[in-house]
Amino acid sequence: MATAISRESYFWHKLHSLTGIIPVGFYMVQHLTLNSFTLGGPDKFNGVVRFFASLPPHILYAMLIFIVWGPLVFHAVYGLFIANRAMPNLSNAAYRWRENRMYTYQRWSGIFIFFFLAYHTATTSIASKVTGNHEMIEYAAWQTRLTEYGHIWLIVYMVGILACCYHLSYGIWNFCIRWGITIGEKSQIRMQKFATVCFIGLTLLGWGALAGFFLHKSEDSSVHVASLSVRP
Ligand code: HEM
Ligand code: HEM
Repeated sequence: MATAISRESYFWHKLHSLTGIIPVGFYMVQHLTLNSFTLGGPDKFNGVVRFFASLPPHILYAMLIFIVWGPLVFHAVYGLFIANRAMPNLSNAAYRWRENRMYTYQRWSGIFIFFFLAYHTATTSIASKVTGNHEMIEYAAWQTRLTEYGHIWLIVYMVGILACCYHLSYGIWNFCIRWGITIGEKSQIRMQKFATVCFIGLTLLGWGALAGFFLHKSEDSSVHVASLSVRP
């Protein structure tokens, strides 16, 4: 019985680990890449938003359910369960080594990004689909959102991106150990360096996407996120 339970939890743990990379990790990398189209101006960014909005609904929703939402919700909920069960040993002097800190921060970042993504998706994808209004996720609305209330949402996004990129990058390092891809100490150190490069590169990509909202004048900078009404 005990073996059956541990085998079951082994399976779910492995699935949790895999979903962090495929498809959730891949989704985030392509998402930040497409968001960085802001650097090319409003038309480029809005072109991406409009492209997804123009997809036939059965294709769009199948992709969203099977590639984005299903794996993400599973990873997030099971991740909260793992993080809650895990014993933090950061304060224990005997365990004060770098790997342990990275591992602990990876769990903490998971908890933080749960709330960040709940806010982010509620105010973008979900809000625009519920209201049928895509302008609220286009360039002009982002410009307003990121500059209102003393730039508070800009700061939230900067920290959110930092946490997501840390979580994915050091998750790759963790993943390689868990799946036996990096076994020896040398290969693990090499992978740690790779994780650091990923962390810096992805964070710059995400922050670059945010910077892109400040570089160009939008077609309609008067669009206000909160004041957008539901289209007839
Ligand atoms: C530069 C920062 C970001 C910008 C400008 C941004 C922009 C957007 C936009 C416009 C949407 C709505 C897409 C649509 O409905 O067509 C969206 C949805 C979403 N974003 Fe982001 N995002 C950013 C960062 C992130 C990060 C770091 C993550 C972490 C994985 C993330 C995850 C998601 C998810 C899961 C959705 C819902 C997918 C959907 O239903 O289409 N975003 N984002
Ligand atoms: C939405 C909230 C999220 C929560 C609560 C969460 C939670 C966690 C936790 C607790 C772990 C550590 C698992 C362990 O120690 O065994 C983890 C690992 C991981 N997560 Fe997340 N996560 C979330 C979102 C994400 C996102 C958006 C990505 C990708 C961009 C991601 C990618 C990964 C990866 C690659 C791992 C490493 C897998 C491994 O240890 O083998 N997670 N997550």
